[in-house]
Amino acid sequence: MARTIFSTIRSGQALVIGGNRGIGLAFVKQLLSDPRFDQVFVTYRTVTSSTELLKLAQTHDRLHCIAMDLTIESQIEAGLADIKTSTPELHFVINCVGFLHEEGITPEKALRQIESANLIRYFQVNSISAVLLAKYLLPLLNHNKPNIFATISAKIGSIEDNRLGGWYGYRASKAALNMLLKTASIEYSRRSKQTAIILLHPGTTDTRLSKPFQRGVPPEKLFSVEKTVGLLLNVLGTVTLEDNGSFFSWDGSRLPW
Ligand SMILES: NC(=O)c1ccc[n+]([C@@H]2O[C@H](COP(=O)([O-])OP(=O)(O)OC[C@H]3O[C@@H](n4cnc5c(N)ncnc54)[C@H](OP(=O)(O)O)[C@@H]3O)[C@@H](O)[C@H]2O)c1
Repeated sequence: MARTIFSTIRSGQALVIGGNRGIGLAFVKQLLSDPRFDQVFVTYRTVTSSTELLKLAQTHDRLHCIAMDLTIESQIEAGLADIKTSTPELHFVINCVGFLHEEGITPEKALRQIESANLIRYFQVNSISAVLLAKYLLPLLNHNKPNIFATISAKIGSIEDNRLGGWYGYRASKAALNMLLKTASIEYSRRSKQTAIILLHPGTTDTRLSKPFQRGVPPEKLFSVEKTVGLLLNVLGTVTLEDNGSFFSWDGSRLPW
């Protein structure tokens, strides 16, 4: 049987994209407690929403925080070039950036609520940012050690699984994210042969993103960020290079596209 990628990491460099809150911040804390990661790079968007992360960096020499708005391509390019000056290679990248609601945008329940500007915003943040990451991460992932580039998607982005409808922009942007990264996984299999690109569904997790929609979710189905990260790391711990281009749920099952 093929060796899992995580089992090959002895001393590695990790990158968390969107690590200032929610699932991303819980990943940062978990990776800092793992001595196999010599350095943990983390991106955040604004200083004001990143107080806990920036405070953590004051007490952890291994933690490096980089400002990056994922909707601005030049910031992605510059941020990753900055990391390249500290390390020639990354071994684990987890992208936790995404939004469901923000000021002026709530998920659409009906066609009459569709607004093209909102749809564009969903695609910009939830889909396009990830493929831009794939574009600029290539030089940091194309090396001779097995590595993972994982992105948090959502089961709601599965076209086959769509039975409820609604949430047009979020759903479609996650479906587009899946297609963009599945396509990137095929190109990576030729250009960065030691990388597995993975998409993950975290389960409903208690964060800012899910807060307005938690009513009706049974308590046992609403995960803490610590639980979600533990479950996702368990799944990632089983990943081999043969899994490149796969979409996994938090329980390790494969989700339909
Ligand atoms: N929570 C759930 O139940 C659930 C379920 C399925 C999938 N997911 C997915 O899980 C991922 C993490 O979400 P979460 O639940 O942890 O939500 P969260 O606490 O709201 O975190 C979202 C992260 O995305 C960042 N972000 C948003 N827009 C950005 C931009 N333009 N540039 C840079 N960063 C940006 C946020 O930064 P700021 O703090 O600066 O806004 C924050 O770090 C998302 O992809 C989400 O779709 C979550």
